[in-house]
This record gives sequence, structure tokens and C-alpha cells, in this order.
Amino acid sequence: STYCVIMAGGIGSRFWPMSTAENPKQFHDILGTGESLLQQTFRRLSLLTDPEKILVVTHRKYEAQVAEQLPAMPHRNIILEPARRNTAPCIAYAAYRIQSEDPEANILIAPSDHLISNESEFVRIAKLALNTAENSDFLLTLGIKPHRPDTGYGYIQFESQTEVDQEVKKVKTFTEKPNLEIAQQFLDSGDFLWNAGIFIWSLKTFKTELALHQADLFQNFEQGSALFGTEEENSFVNKIYPSCENESIDYGLMEKSSKVFVIPADFGWSDLGTWGSLYEHKELDNKGNALIGSKILSYESEGNIVRMPKDKIAVIEGLKEYIIVDTPEALLICKMQNEQLIKTFVSDVKLSF
Ligand code: GDD
Ligand code: MG
Repeated sequence: STYCVIMAGGIGSRFWPMSTAENPKQFHDILGTGESLLQQTFRRLSLLTDPEKILVVTHRKYEAQVAEQLPAMPHRNIILEPARRNTAPCIAYAAYRIQSEDPEANILIAPSDHLISNESEFVRIAKLALNTAENSDFLLTLGIKPHRPDTGYGYIQFESQTEVDQEVKKVKTFTEKPNLEIAQQFLDSGDFLWNAGIFIWSLKTFKTELALHQADLFQNFEQGSALFGTEEENSFVNKIYPSCENESIDYGLMEKSSKVFVIPADFGWSDLGTWGSLYEHKELDNKGNALIGSKILSYESEGNIVRMPKDKIAVIEGLKEYIIVDTPEALLICKMQNEQLIKTFVSDVKLSF
């Protein structure tokens, strides 16, 4: 049967200072729709399977937030990581839990912090991917046509000829987070897609490929495979999880495996990963400023995103393409084009104060 896994343990550090380790962005109503990004994701995946078969993997400290935001999901479906080890261990953990319920499962894994505006097209593509995964040994990912040389994404080059299915393409190369020069080359060449970060595979294929390319991680989980879904799962995971290496699924598996296939997709996808990507979704004033807050005045300023607490006054003059975000704890002022650096600011702040 179909299982969906939502990865919700990241700290969204490029969205600092609104997103913090205590309250990361997936729990925020970033777009002002009345739903958090996690709630939107859950609702979208409910179109593919029952709430009993949707799992959320997250860090222990977010257990209460997830439970409160997703009352329709059984509590035991909140999978709690004892430590942060990035997405490869997170996905492996979910896979072993699912195995205890259905060894024949097909799994769709999704981030908790994306925007998808065309839900019916998403459902169509997701079903095609799940169906393909069930009848093959492919690791499938969804690919988005790129429009800027973003260095925060994975880039996928695929073979145009394919015997499988018109829409399912064999992947030639998968390059996670290239530098700007290479990202620009990929964009110019016209035959690369962005990795949407949504993965689809059968449990069996995943285990086979994990054993091949992440042998230590695989062994860590495999030795306790009978304990998942039992009372002993927790103590077993507490024991092995901290010794898993910090590894993303992109570097750890997708760049390495020869079984990767991509389905080009166009369903209004956006990674709300950075302030710049949020800027693209906000209503702009006539100078192209996204002003979030009720008392912001701007003069001779263009292309900025400014977010202020609701009633705090801000005045900007002569400012071009900056990110300004003010919260009770912190004030960020950063050139829009350098937004990938925000991640490093967060760790510097942590080290400094
Ligand atoms: N449970 C759990 N544990 N979730 C995690 C962890 C973890 O340790 N680390 C990250 N996540 C969650 C995040 O909350 C997010 O929903 C998702 O996993 C992806 O992690 P990101 O940290 O946002 O990855 P990324 O944006 O740098 O890169 C990925 O997504 C891009 C598209 O948005 C990659 O898959 C890229 O290749 C892809 O282009
Ligand atoms: Mg992301």
C-alpha cells in the first residue's frame, strides 16, 4: 500500500530569524493562509493515502507542535529522532517503521516546507511515480524546470530517450548544491532540472540501494529490524541513531545510485527555502518591494523584502534588493543575492552569543 513520509525535522536556518531551532519554519503560517506549511503538506498527502499511513519524522523537541498541528494523524505516526542526523537517517528510520506494518509498501517522501499550487497535477504525478515504483526497482524523484542558478538545490540531468514511459526519464547525473558557476552552466545548457526533494520508491528498492551505497546506515537499522513497531523500538533507536553519520539523502544516495529516474513535473512547485523564494510569492508594491508588516514606509527603494513585527514602524530609503527581518530576538539585514549565507550567520550567532 501507499505510505507518505513528511520530513519535518529541519531548522530552516536560511529563514532565520523568523525560523529558529525552537520554532522552525515548517510550523509557521509563512504565507498567511491560515495553515502552517506542515499542515498544508499533510492535507496534500491526504489526497494520496489515509492519515493512518502518513508519518511525520521530526526531532523529539517538536513532538507537541506536530501533534497539535495534525490532530487527524495517529500519535504513533510521529516518528521521533533522538538526534539531528539530516535526511538519510530520517528516511531510513521511517522505512523501517513502515516495514513493520507493510513490507510491500511503496513510499513517497516529502519535505514539510514546500508550496505546491496545482494539487490535482501533483496527485496525478505522484500516482504515476508510485505506480512506477511498485513495478520497477527505480528511485524516483520529481524534477522542476529551473529559472535561476540557485545553489541551494540538487540539479538533475536526464536522458531524453527512455523506454520506460514517456514521462519517466533515466537520470544521467545528479549534482547536489553545485557552486554558482556550475549552477549557471547547468541552467544555460537547458537540460537540467531542479530536484524537488520529493522521493518515491518501494521499500524493497530503497533497502537494496541503501545497503549498496550507505552500508553503515543500513547495518545500523537492519540489525534491529524486528524491533520496529514494538515497545523496544525507542530504546533501540536511542542506541543506534547518534552513531549514524550526518548525511542527506541527496549526497548519500541520489548522487550515488544508478537506479535514479526523474519525472519532470510542473505543478506550481516552490521551495520556500529562503527569503528570496518567499519574495517571489508576495504581493509587491510598485517598486517591487515585499513589505510584510502594517507600518512600513519606503522611499526610493526597490526589490526589497522587509518583515517587521505587526505594529512596529520602519522607514527605508535608498535601499536596493535587501532582506530586512526584525523579530524580538534578532534583526537581520542582508543583501538578497547573498541569502545562502544566512545559514552560516545562524551558526556564527550561536557561537558568538
Ligand atoms: N526529520 C528530519 N530530520 N527532517 C529533516 C532533517 C532531519 O535531520 N533535516 C532536514 N529535514 C527536513 C526539512 O525540514 C525539509 O522539510 C526537508 O527535510 C529537506 O531538508 P532541507 O534542509 O530543506 O534540504 P535542502 O532544501 O537543503 O535540499 C533538499 O531540497 C531541495 C529542494 O527544496 C535537496 O533534496 C535538494 O536536492 C532539493 O533541490
Ligand atoms: Mg529545503
